[in-house]
Amino acid sequence: MHKGHELRHTVRMANTALDRQESLGMSLRGYFPYFGSVPRSRSCYLDSAASALKIESCIERLTSYLTNEHANIHRGAYELSSRATESYEEARQAVRDFCNVPESHEVIFTSGATDSLNMVATGLEGGLVRRGDAVMSTLLEHHSNFVPWQQLALRVEGKFCVVGITEQAEIDVLEFLSILTECSPKVVAFTAHSNAFGTLPPVLQFIHSCKQQKAISVVDATQSIVHGGLDVAALDGDFFAFSAHKLYGPTGLGVLIGRKELLEQLRPARFGGGMIREVGEQFSSWADIPGKFEAGTPPIAEAIAFGATLRQLSEIRKTYPLGLVEEELFRYAVERLSSLPSVKLIGPLRRDQRSILSFEVAGVHPHDVASIADSHGVQVRAGHHCVMPAMRSLQLSATTRLSLGMYSVREDVDTLVESIQHAQKILS
Ligand SMILES: Cc1ncc(COP(=O)(O)O)c(C=O)c1O
Repeated sequence: MHKGHELRHTVRMANTALDRQESLGMSLRGYFPYFGSVPRSRSCYLDSAASALKIESCIERLTSYLTNEHANIHRGAYELSSRATESYEEARQAVRDFCNVPESHEVIFTSGATDSLNMVATGLEGGLVRRGDAVMSTLLEHHSNFVPWQQLALRVEGKFCVVGITEQAEIDVLEFLSILTECSPKVVAFTAHSNAFGTLPPVLQFIHSCKQQKAISVVDATQSIVHGGLDVAALDGDFFAFSAHKLYGPTGLGVLIGRKELLEQLRPARFGGGMIREVGEQFSSWADIPGKFEAGTPPIAEAIAFGATLRQLSEIRKTYPLGLVEEELFRYAVERLSSLPSVKLIGPLRRDQRSILSFEVAGVHPHDVASIADSHGVQVRAGHHCVMPAMRSLQLSATTRLSLGMYSVREDVDTLVESIQHAQKILS
């Protein structure tokens, strides 16, 4: 049976939400070759927020492109190069379709979310953000969406205005609004989904408020796109960044989506071949967007494989909305983990939350929890999750974090719970 039909059949047969999640998660595993190659006892992969497993279309397209179709793009006068160029531009179109971006040249391929965010922070300097201008972000951010803004503020000698978080690791909305008014920042960077605590900030409201204050909004969509998609036209923000490898695609590739008028004013941060219009001895001029931001040979194979990834995800989401498995399983994980007296869950734990859950185990260091979990075949992450400012604000030094993907099932969570009980027995 075709996989799409199988999925529809599975959804119809399931009775309860959890049953539906379980059978869906199991069916979706069919799209991930990893599960065919790793023994069941080792495959409780609960670290998708760090990097997701690779979907079959990504692996197949990467292999077929590298085997049969590779040539450098944009500059070739021969057919192989023209076809590679066409496939690369089709991948850009795939991103545009998946994220509902108004125009295809508003999609820039980068080397990752970190690169995308740095490109904006660097590109704003001296033009859209000038000496003495304020820059704003929040304590909830991944270092990739915090340090570039902190450094930009330092370079322009402007104020770096940072919005605090509550004890539940939520951005303080009132504080956000009052700092936005008082600080009058030129640019405001915030996450749409916390990688450490699973918080889902009110992105639409934030974008709207930035617009009212004439501040440029930069949304870190790295985690949110995986579990809820990204509708750029509906959100109507200025910049969005994410990485392909967290969205079941290849490593080494990221996306920056920007409003055309702003991308045209943004200064390029990397210089070299492909991004120029004219090079003189003393001065140069730049190619139109998106070329202006894609200096050198881009990650061609990765972009093409990501295009195939997105097309397959779009097919899958015709049957079930992205994030459904993770949302229902998240509630199960909250229930199971909170039944352990030694476990303290961290974060807002709201009903619409999905995928990411941080916790502490009394008397056991997070690194020990993670390595004992690994001995049970469960992969979870431990540490500060690249959110030191948030950790400090919550008076935490480290947590253990589980994160779900579309292939996650109850057994993964159950095995984690068993491993925590084991860790408690031997270490506390
Ligand atoms: C919310 C968030 N933003 C940005 C990043 C940086 O992504 P990358 O390391 O792929 O550039 C991550 C990675 O964990 C993340 O979770």
